[in-house]
Amino acid sequence: MKTKILVCDPVHEEGIEKLKQAGFEVDVNPTITPEQLTKIVSNYDALIVRSRTKVTKEIIEAGRRLRAIGRAGAGLDNIDLETAKQRGITVLSTPEALAEAVAELTIGLIISLARSIPLADRTLKEGKWIKKKLMGWQLEGKTLGTIGLGNVGERVAKIAKALGMKILITEIIPLSPELLKELETEVVPLKELLQRSDVVTLHVPLTSQTYHMIGAKEFQLMKKEAFLVNTSRGAIVDEKALLTALKSGKIGGAALDVYEVEPPRDLELIKLPNVVCTAHIGAQTKEAQNAAASMIAEKIINSLK
Ligand code: 3PG
Repeated sequence: MKTKILVCDPVHEEGIEKLKQAGFEVDVNPTITPEQLTKIVSNYDALIVRSRTKVTKEIIEAGRRLRAIGRAGAGLDNIDLETAKQRGITVLSTPEALAEAVAELTIGLIISLARSIPLADRTLKEGKWIKKKLMGWQLEGKTLGTIGLGNVGERVAKIAKALGMKILITEIIPLSPELLKELETEVVPLKELLQRSDVVTLHVPLTSQTYHMIGAKEFQLMKKEAFLVNTSRGAIVDEKALLTALKSGKIGGAALDVYEVEPPRDLELIKLPNVVCTAHIGAQTKEAQNAAASMIAEKIINSLK
């Protein structure tokens, strides 16, 4: 019987071609619903997903033939890792493919907030010249607090340092002394990072430890003008507490690429004037998608052969 792979989300053609050339039968259904997937998953040896498809316990248990689940991307919070482990299914991902794209978006969002670029664009297109209201601030000399220094956090910190920002980080996993030296950074407890940063940026995965790690208590600690940037996972931030903090002027603004529910149903938070928002486009570059598709195809081929 031929090895069969189901691609459940939009994945670059190059990866799909690689899988076919390796002799696998590949079905592509980038809009598949959870119900449809549960019905047909038993026909496949491997699934390839991005963040849209939730590979739940029910789906894994229905996938009697499954040997591998490939995530063309970084976050694994949409895959029930515990059930996959119990069933002996290999879970593969490609965090290295996306770091540059997510880091560049993060820096873009920080500059967008600091200089009100989306508002300036919107108002001028409406024929309004509101130059006097658009007084921003420069990043040079300001402090960036980076929570998480993995692939993306490291790249964000390096670009921010090149822009003249001082970098603070909080130790979540052991950090390399060479990297700390290169960034000329200070490692501080989370509380101090929140108190001293002008911009706080999140680069941790969503786990039971990081769920709502930034909430009302943390906003209380931040500077009144500080910005929060989240290009990681929506549920790391308590969105209700963020809404209150922004409306009450507890913090200066927020830039969000990710949301607790995607697409967000309640638009109150993202419609605030001090919020800049994008639609989970961190990894949405040609280069990142090409690399993620190609790498996940290679990893699946190695794992299944
Ligand atoms: C990731 O975790 O890889 C990024 O958040 C991108 O997710 P996406 O592949 O669903 O765009």
